[in-house]
Amino acid sequence: MMERSLQAELLDELPAVDPRAVGSRRDLRRINALMGNARLMARAVRGAASQAAPRRIVDLGAGDGTFLLGWVRRMPSLASGSEVLLVDRHDAADAGVVTALSARGFRPRSVQADGLEWLREQPTEAGTWVLANLFLHHFTAESLRALFNALAEKAELCCACEPRRGGWSLAASQMLGLIGANAVTRHDAAVSVRAGFQGEELSALWPADPRWRLREYRAGLFSHLFLAQRT
Ligand SMILES: C[S@@+](CC[C@H](N)C(=O)[O-])C[C@H]1O[C@@H](n2cnc3c(N)ncnc32)[C@H](O)[C@@H]1O
Repeated sequence: MMERSLQAELLDELPAVDPRAVGSRRDLRRINALMGNARLMARAVRGAASQAAPRRIVDLGAGDGTFLLGWVRRMPSLASGSEVLLVDRHDAADAGVVTALSARGFRPRSVQADGLEWLREQPTEAGTWVLANLFLHHFTAESLRALFNALAEKAELCCACEPRRGGWSLAASQMLGLIGANAVTRHDAAVSVRAGFQGEELSALWPADPRWRLREYRAGLFSHLFLAQRT
């Protein structure tokens, strides 16, 4: 049993234009492809979208936005014209991603802000979905409780894909040099796995409210998926 532990990640500290950060975001695109996170998250929420497509999609800790674009491509039932917000504390959104989202009929906007502070300031808008890929593991249990309280107030659906904490994921994270990952990525990958989740750890932090249906499960080889849906 690996206890959850948090340690600072290098990518969070580096300016977005630093070549080591640029290289690490490029590595993240390959890691997301290996983990299959866009596919896993699309599969998790596809049923909900066919019943009521979101009108506002928020990606917390969006990074360069490549993950979100991959997710959108797997979600044919999304309504064009929806607002898409890429929220990250760094100005890391890729211009090509923003252009590709516009070309698909969405209204993308990149927001540079702290995810929790930004969310707390948002009005409650019907049809808001919040996604988070490789983001929640940055937070302590106490901060996650605060984030989940805000999410339960502002969103109708929340889906997150995080590193699965355990020996198998840790071993895989330590082999990322084999795919040419840089030192920042190799450091952050192991830190992320140790800060990742298992069991029903995230559900336990969601506010107790019978209107929310929660699911949390092992997904793919290395991922842990959390879905909260207002009924
Ligand atoms: C591991 S990266 C994942 C990026 C992206 N979701 C992806 O899949 O490629 C985590 C991202 O969260 C951002 N981040 C970390 N803490 C944050 C916070 N408190 N508020 C907003 N963004 C944050 C970092 O800048 C980074 O871009």
